[in-house]
Amino acid sequence: MRVLGIETTCDETAVAVVSERLGEAGGEILSNEVLSQIARHAAYGGVVPEIAARAHIDVLDRLIRRALERAAIEAKDLDAIAAAAGPGLIGGVLVGLTAGKALALALGKPFIAINHLEAHALTARLTDRLDFPFLALLISGGHTQLVAVNGVGDYRRLGSTVDDAAGEAFDKVAKMLELPYPGGPQIEKLALEGDAHRFNFPRPMLGREGADFSLSGLKTAVRQEVLKLQTPNKQDVRDLAASFQAAIVDVIVDRVRSGVRLFTESEGRAPQGLVIGGGVAANGAIRRALVRLCAECGLRFISPPAALCADNGAIIAWAGLERLKRGLTDDLDFAPRPRWPLDAEPSRSHHGKA
Ligand code: KG4
Ligand code: ZN
Repeated sequence: MRVLGIETTCDETAVAVVSERLGEAGGEILSNEVLSQIARHAAYGGVVPEIAARAHIDVLDRLIRRALERAAIEAKDLDAIAAAAGPGLIGGVLVGLTAGKALALALGKPFIAINHLEAHALTARLTDRLDFPFLALLISGGHTQLVAVNGVGDYRRLGSTVDDAAGEAFDKVAKMLELPYPGGPQIEKLALEGDAHRFNFPRPMLGREGADFSLSGLKTAVRQEVLKLQTPNKQDVRDLAASFQAAIVDVIVDRVRSGVRLFTESEGRAPQGLVIGGGVAANGAIRRALVRLCAECGLRFISPPAALCADNGAIIAWAGLERLKRGLTDDLDFAPRPRWPLDAEPSRSHHGKA
C-alpha cells in the first residue's frame, strides 16, 4: 500500500509518499518533500496566515509532482491520498485539503482527512515497532498536550496547556532577546553556552495533579528579567536562554511524569512507551531529560528523528496508511477544521469499521 500525504496547516508546504513495510510494523518513506516558508514570515516575527495560504498555493502542485518523481511512482499507482484537514490556519488547510480531494477524485482513489495532531502521535509507529496503547507528548508552536493513544482514531487528551504552547513560549522569549524567528533552535544553541542557574525562573504547575501545562508565567518572568537588565549583553542573553530552557525542561518532565501516572490510572494499564512529536521535540535538552525520566519509570522512549517531529508530509501519509488499512476513508465533502481536538473523533463521519 502506498499513500501520498499533503501537509499545509502552518508554514511548511509538504508532500510525501509512504509505503507499508511488509512484515514489519513500520513504514517506508519513499519521498518526503518539505518547503519551509520561514523566510517569507521572518520579517514579521511569526507566521502571517494570509502569506502562508498564498505561499502554499504557489508551490503545492510542483511539490506533489516532485514527491511522485522522487518516489519513482506514478499517481495512478497510489492507493490513497491523505491530506491534513486541521487543526491549523484555515487558509492553508483549505489549500492542501482541496488539492488532496481533487487528486483523489481525478484518480478515483480513496481520500483520507488527517488530524495533524494524530499524525504527530502516530509517527512513532512509522519509525519504530510500537503497539498501542502509548503516551504521546505533542509539543509544537501551536500545541502542547499529553495524549493517551489507544488505537488509530482512539485518543484521549490527558492534559494540555492552559495558556501558551511550548513553541510559542520559546518563540516569545526569543523575540524578547531579539533573536530571529523561529526562536526555539536559537535558544537551544545559546543555552549551550549559558548558565542555567543564574536566573531562578518559576516552574509553573510543578507537582500539580493531572497533566496540564502552564507556561505564560515563565515567559513573563523572563520578560521582567530582561527589563531589569535593560540592555542584556551577549552573556546575559546566553544565561537567560539557558535558565529559561532549564525551567521549561523541568516543567515538561514533571508534567510527563504526572501524565504517565494519570495514564495508568485512567486507562487501567501502563503505556507501551512515551513518544514525542511537534517541532519542539527537536530540542536536545528536552529529549535528554525525557530519556532520563523514562529510564527512571521503566518506560520505553521513542523519539522520531527531528525532521519527522517537525511538520512534514510523511507523517500525514503514514496516518493515512494506518487509516486506510482499517478501512477508514472520508467523503470528499469533509470540511476543514481550524480547531480539531484529538478526542473529538466519535463525531467524525467516515466509512468502514472502527
Ligand atoms: O511542529 P512545528 O514545526 O510547527 C507547528 O507549530 O505546528 O513547530 C514549530 C515550533 C516553533 O515554535 C519552534 O520555535 C519550535 O517548534 N522549535 C524548537 C526547536 N526547533 C523548533 N523549540 C525548541 N528547541 C528546538 N530545537
Ligand atoms: Zn505540527
